[in-house]
Amino acid sequence: MPDISVLSVASEYWPLVKTGGLADVAGALPAAVAPHGVTMTPFIPGYRAIMKALGRKRLVHEYASLLGSPARIVAAKHGGHPILVLDAPAFFDRDGGPYADAMGRDWLDNGLRFAAFGKAAADLAAGRAGARPFDLLHAHDWQAGLAPAYLTYAASGAHRPRTVMTIHNMAFQGFFGADFFPRLELPQLAWSIEGVEYHGGVGFLKAGVGLADAITTVSPGYAEEIRRPQFGMGLEGLIVGRQDRLSGIVNGIDPAIWNAATDKALEATFTANTLEKRTKNKRAVEAVFGLEPGDGPLFVVISRLTWQKGMDVLIEVIDHLVGLGGRLALLGSGDAAIEAGLREAAGRHPGRIGIRTGYDEALSHLMQGGGDAILVPSRFEPCGLTQLYGLAYGCVPVVARTGGLADTVVDANLAAVDADAATGILFSPLNYESFAHAITRAVRLYADTAAWTRIQKRGMAADFSWTRSGRTYAQLYARLKENA
Ligand code: ADP
Ligand code: GLC
Repeated sequence: MPDISVLSVASEYWPLVKTGGLADVAGALPAAVAPHGVTMTPFIPGYRAIMKALGRKRLVHEYASLLGSPARIVAAKHGGHPILVLDAPAFFDRDGGPYADAMGRDWLDNGLRFAAFGKAAADLAAGRAGARPFDLLHAHDWQAGLAPAYLTYAASGAHRPRTVMTIHNMAFQGFFGADFFPRLELPQLAWSIEGVEYHGGVGFLKAGVGLADAITTVSPGYAEEIRRPQFGMGLEGLIVGRQDRLSGIVNGIDPAIWNAATDKALEATFTANTLEKRTKNKRAVEAVFGLEPGDGPLFVVISRLTWQKGMDVLIEVIDHLVGLGGRLALLGSGDAAIEAGLREAAGRHPGRIGIRTGYDEALSHLMQGGGDAILVPSRFEPCGLTQLYGLAYGCVPVVARTGGLADTVVDANLAAVDADAATGILFSPLNYESFAHAITRAVRLYADTAAWTRIQKRGMAADFSWTRSGRTYAQLYARLKENA
């Protein structure tokens, strides 16, 4: 078995800090690759909450100045697993979220904060910051995008680990003005189209995609899509130019956390053979959301409230959904205008539409365990995790046909139903007509209890564990290490 050491560099890490699926993936990856001879050490920013949550810390490296501020790298253990943390109070010791203040305004120094993170990651991976050098550095999303650049432009002769850049979301690229470049302490050589320069400014994700030895994204479908302007969002040319290094590896789900048979957040645990127990969870969801109890279809949404997630179209179909006898429980946080639109629609249908804003991990589990169908009307979706949790919990996914959603859900068309292969409902394009039609199909299918139960069971039998993808990542690391 190969013995490969990987430094995984991500701005989120479940359960210590999470705003979306990136945290789930960064948290699950070390255990997913471990059976294949990969020792993965996560490196994360020392946000205030993380520094508080961690117990004993060991000093690994001290910077008198990391891009202008004092900083330390410390080693700690979380859940028995070693992690490395960038303790840089000037950048990370503040109230609010990882990227924005409590009002949702991006931190003005985000460029510098995550440049410092990328630089420290490169120092660590190269063996310049206390720890032993790593074979590979695996960077996730724009926040880690400069790490491959710091390695590329390090002094010659230094150990140069291989690098992997994973794109979880093209919509966030980390773009900053030209005046920011001198603060990065990179050589002038890096200010070029081959380096970090992008449309006259500094592009973090662009730098990572352009300089990494391998590029991955989180589903084969999205790997195809980002070759086109609509999904590549400006980086499609670079992606096409480097497509021989690009692959799509679908995310898994962590069976220790998302397991309906053992989930403590549920009122009633269940398996595919005891689906009737879900009713108890359904009653609990209705109570939390102030919905009239009933046996009719209960739709759920668990989502960031953003344009990506198609929440504006959801607002449009609410009257249709209620008109068909459906009810909706929505848990989300994000855009204030979307929230206002949802609340207005909910106001028209008391007892039929319930909305909770904010972040509530336990409630999200209960909703998957009690909802009949989960709606995911995304405009684009690199992978998507909530449809995978839905599949595992018998909460049938009704999803837009895009990216990872299209890769992981089998539409209940006639052929798939006959072959007992269907696991959900897909629709496209994302607009009122097709989304409304998908909801009509879901309500009709739900009325046919035998057919609905088959779809639930088929979804629950699907394997979305990390087994396959963990192996695929490990094979990629091994190839890169061999060719070092
Ligand atoms: P994205 O990362 O684009 O937001 P994913 O589907 O990959 O989309 O991951 C979203 C993750 O965040 C899932 O684990 C989902 O359950 C969780 N989530 C999203 N919104 C909320 C919320 N308001 N409360 C609790 N969990 C949420
Ligand atoms: C991003 C994507 C989502 C994906 C997640 C984890 O946030 O929007 O589709 O599942 O990253 O890879």
